[in-house]
Amino acid sequence: MSIVIKTPEDIEKMRVAGRLASEVLDFIEPHVKPGITTGELDRLCHDYMVNAQETVPAPLNYAPPGYKPYPKSICASINHQVCHGVPGDKALKKGDIVNLDITVIKDGWHGDTSRMFLVGGDASILARRLCAVTYECLWLGIDHVRPGAHLGDIGHAIQRHAESCGFSVVREFCGHGIGRQFHEDPQVLHYGKPGGGPELRPGMIFTIEPMINAGKAAISELPDGWTIVTKDRSLSAQWEHTVLVTESGAEVLTLSAGSPARPDSRG
Ligand code: MF3
Ligand code: CO
Ligand code: CO
Repeated sequence: MSIVIKTPEDIEKMRVAGRLASEVLDFIEPHVKPGITTGELDRLCHDYMVNAQETVPAPLNYAPPGYKPYPKSICASINHQVCHGVPGDKALKKGDIVNLDITVIKDGWHGDTSRMFLVGGDASILARRLCAVTYECLWLGIDHVRPGAHLGDIGHAIQRHAESCGFSVVREFCGHGIGRQFHEDPQVLHYGKPGGGPELRPGMIFTIEPMINAGKAAISELPDGWTIVTKDRSLSAQWEHTVLVTESGAEVLTLSAGSPARPDSRG
């Protein structure tokens, strides 16, 4: 595969899909409270996507090579779960941190975004710091998106900030091109060297979605074949946006009324 450059018409559809993905997170936020199960969050999001938005939940039955079909409509990754947490009957507890990752398809185009939620507002100082630093990492990456920059510039900025805070960057999963396909070229690594990797050109669209661990970077996969956890069971956080390379810089496509403000300091 190679990196697809989107046309102005494609970009308009990606703006719609991106905003809709973010609006699912706006919709679910008030439900993310102690006692609710991730299965219930999945059901609420599924119904909102299918009935209110008339979007298709991209994760449902998604089966990349080597994986069995993903059984749910969202990913919900709690505490030491890194990504791809499969919703189930586990209830959220006060003090948990949870990532909800939403990908919708509208009119054949994908929008992909995730946020961290602090359940019941009683998270530890470490958990809150990890979530805040990971959000800064995402925006530091976005700050480097412009024509002529390289993907390695993004990865380097993210890695530098995460590691300077004593955290580690997950290597096995990365951001990705996105459009008519859920996962397209290029791979967007969250570590790297300035000037490394492909050069960015206007019309490219990809996600940036750093997974940052409070402990070591190593991960393992649970027997469900999807859920990824930290090997040392340390906390992990992730934030994701879908980003367009414009003539002058970046346009974040996955913003909506409830999107958290960009951080005013990035370390
Ligand atoms: N939304 C995830 C990403 O950001 C991918 C989830 S794949 C699934 O790339 F099958 F687990 F949903
Ligand atoms: Co993604
Ligand atoms: Co995602």
